[in-house]
Amino acid sequence: MKKTDKKKLEEFIRVDHAGERGAIKIYEGQLLALSTIKQDESLKKMIEEMKEHEKEHLEYFEKEIQKRNMKPTYLLPLWDLMGVSLGFGTALLGKKAAMLCTASVEEVIESHYKNQLKKLGNDEMILKAKIEKFKKDEANHKNIAYNSGASSKGLYSIIDKVIRTGSRIAITISEKI
Ligand SMILES: [Fe+2]
Ligand SMILES: [Fe+2]
Repeated sequence: MKKTDKKKLEEFIRVDHAGERGAIKIYEGQLLALSTIKQDESLKKMIEEMKEHEKEHLEYFEKEIQKRNMKPTYLLPLWDLMGVSLGFGTALLGKKAAMLCTASVEEVIESHYKNQLKKLGNDEMILKAKIEKFKKDEANHKNIAYNSGASSKGLYSIIDKVIRTGSRIAITISEKI
């Protein structure tokens, strides 16, 4: 029976917690833009719904951090700031960019969860089941974003690359500190 590496486990929970918090902040930034400068009620509703899922994800990892006596990443304030800016900025650029932002981030998170699932042992079945469920939610968000006009063509491909690279860097750093 495969056992989970304890150090890896801490890294997983720390980074998942940071990532889910980042996701909420991105949505908050988008909602801010969509209720002020770029008013769009239907997009707002959709994002609000996805944000509810992220809240559920975040709450789970928050509890895990407390239960396991861990420290969250030191960089939470930085991720908060970056998340809100990214969300706000992409929503200002328009629906295509906002949805691209969601699609790119969710895709990175989905494959990040997939990776973790491979490394979690049978001693962490509950965590595994949760991550499995969250991964499905993220895939769903990604599909919603693509169906809502996310475009990674032309100039948008630059935004796509920046967001993907940024998310991966954030993941690597938050695993460690
Ligand atoms: Fe999430
Ligand atoms: Fe999501």
